[in-house]
Amino acid sequence: MTGKLKGKTALVTGAASGLGLADVIEFVKEDAETVIMVDQNHSRLKEVSKKVAEYGDSIIIPYGIDVTSENGWQALTDFLDQRIDKMDVLVNNAGVNKRDTFEDCTLEDWNHIISVNQTGVFLGMKYCLDLLKRSGNASIINMSSITGLTGYFAVAYTASKWAVRGMTKSAAMEFGKYGIRVNSVHPGYIDTPLNESIKELIHATNGMNPLGRAGEATEIAKVVTFLASDDSSYMSGSEVVLDGGMTAGGQFKTIADQFNIY
Ligand SMILES: NC(=O)c1ccc[n+]([C@@H]2O[C@H](COP(=O)([O-])OP(=O)(O)OC[C@H]3O[C@@H](n4cnc5c(N)ncnc54)[C@H](O)[C@@H]3O)[C@@H](O)[C@H]2O)c1
Repeated sequence: MTGKLKGKTALVTGAASGLGLADVIEFVKEDAETVIMVDQNHSRLKEVSKKVAEYGDSIIIPYGIDVTSENGWQALTDFLDQRIDKMDVLVNNAGVNKRDTFEDCTLEDWNHIISVNQTGVFLGMKYCLDLLKRSGNASIINMSSITGLTGYFAVAYTASKWAVRGMTKSAAMEFGKYGIRVNSVHPGYIDTPLNESIKELIHATNGMNPLGRAGEATEIAKVVTFLASDDSSYMSGSEVVLDGGMTAGGQFKTIADQFNIY
């Protein structure tokens, strides 16, 4: 089934890799009119944006900025103002991680992670608001994590993902009057370059996951597409958890398995 995003213009940050790239491919397959691919990795963005065009007829606009830069967002939205008449979908997906505990986390690392994962999402919503208002029927999807629902052993990452969850609800309240819906997505472990160095850790958590495996980027992208589409027209301020059931009680499942309860 295609055509879910027919006539829609979407902007995805962190679009050169992993979940962002999977979102863009799904949007193109669902006939989005225009997809703006934003990433700070200019060379990779250029390379993948050509491949993405092969999935359908959408107009693809690659644009390189660092999402922490206010000047970058100003330049991008000034440019878009000349190119598009409205924005229907904004996916604030760009993110970084460093698994530092409280004791190990330097202020420099803290500031970097908060600026990309938290400030980047704030700036994205703030600067795209005028274009989103012109849609009258827009959807913002903010990428949080299951670490935005629980504690986790990376302090800055966890703090940033809880912040995204909170900002999403504030924005949902404020933007409803413009016909803009705002939801957060909370993936568990997904097989992307972000997790390349922790494959062993992911494998170890499979036992806590009712589905017994990590997720695939496309499994997240299909739900992001649902949130972007009119099929989710009454959803705003929601937290959509995509973790194979891990946060439903993974710790109890491990014990149940150990004591042969299941
Ligand atoms: N992979 C997972 O298991 C997982 C789980 C939960 C949440 N997430 C979240 O999903 C999002 C995407 O993660 P991913 O796994 O696809 O990661 P990834 O590393 O594969 O892709 C992230 C992309 O963001 C871009 N980026 C990083 N900093 C940027 C900046 N300052 N400005 C512009 N672009 C920047 C990178 O260049 C890269 O292309 C992140 O917010 C991440 O926290 C991922």
